Amino acid sequence: MNKIVSKEQLSSCVYKLEIEAPIVAKAQKPGNFVILRIKEKGERVPFTIVESNPSKGTISIVIRNMGVTRTKLCNLNVGDEIKDILGPLGRRSEISNKGTFLACGNGIRIAALLPIARAMKEAGNKVITIISAKTKDLLILEDEMREISDEIHVLTEDGTHGEKGNFTDPMRKVIEKENIDYCMTIGPVDMMRDCAKVTKEYNIPTRASLYSIMVDGTGMCGACRVSVNGRTKFTCVDGPEFDAHAIDFDGLLLRIDGYRNEESKKLQHLK
Ligand code: FES
Repeated sequence: MNKIVSKEQLSSCVYKLEIEAPIVAKAQKPGNFVILRIKEKGERVPFTIVESNPSKGTISIVIRNMGVTRTKLCNLNVGDEIKDILGPLGRRSEISNKGTFLACGNGIRIAALLPIARAMKEAGNKVITIISAKTKDLLILEDEMREISDEIHVLTEDGTHGEKGNFTDPMRKVIEKENIDYCMTIGPVDMMRDCAKVTKEYNIPTRASLYSIMVDGTGMCGACRVSVNGRTKFTCVDGPEFDAHAIDFDGLLLRIDGYRNEESKKLQHLK
């Protein structure tokens, strides 16, 4: 069992949980994730490790209260326990000094971008960040991203905070102005697809960190499969990061949509 040691509300619907997981905390590297189950027969849900504290033996994850298991997790409190945490899983991010690093993040998945951008900054890169969300309330970790960025652009789709507009507009402006050596995009599938289209035009090596349906997290069940360069890869063991110019984003969107109806029925039932 893994005890929740702190809970912070980042917005009206987003929470950060710090959970005891000493072995994971010691071994975790940027890009790694965990799969957790609240109960013995509960759903297994993947979460990026946002930060870890090896001396305290804790990891932190960020959750938006959407979906059945995520809503249940958001309702837990300090002192409550989670059945198990499997990890750290996935391949770690490639962290090195590449020059100028463009970090693109959207919505809840800015939480997955933060540890990578931080590590890239520590490796000596100039970090230019673009973060966005639908609305102000869904924009998280802005201060933390600002702290590790040499330049930051903040957008909301409805203009309630930062610039109003489309992600790719500031991307193009930054790319025209700066010599970008490497880009990482993390967000919803369509956002990553759009980012990848832009960086492909400019020949900028780009990685996308995928978030997909996962069950076992060991490459056995096939739930997290994705086509990369026409070959089937498993997000849990081959990823979560892949060459963004080689991912079949449209195929991935179709697979994710297939699960949405089922999830929304279960959520109605929970409510
Ligand atoms: S979660 Fe089963 S193969 Fe990746």
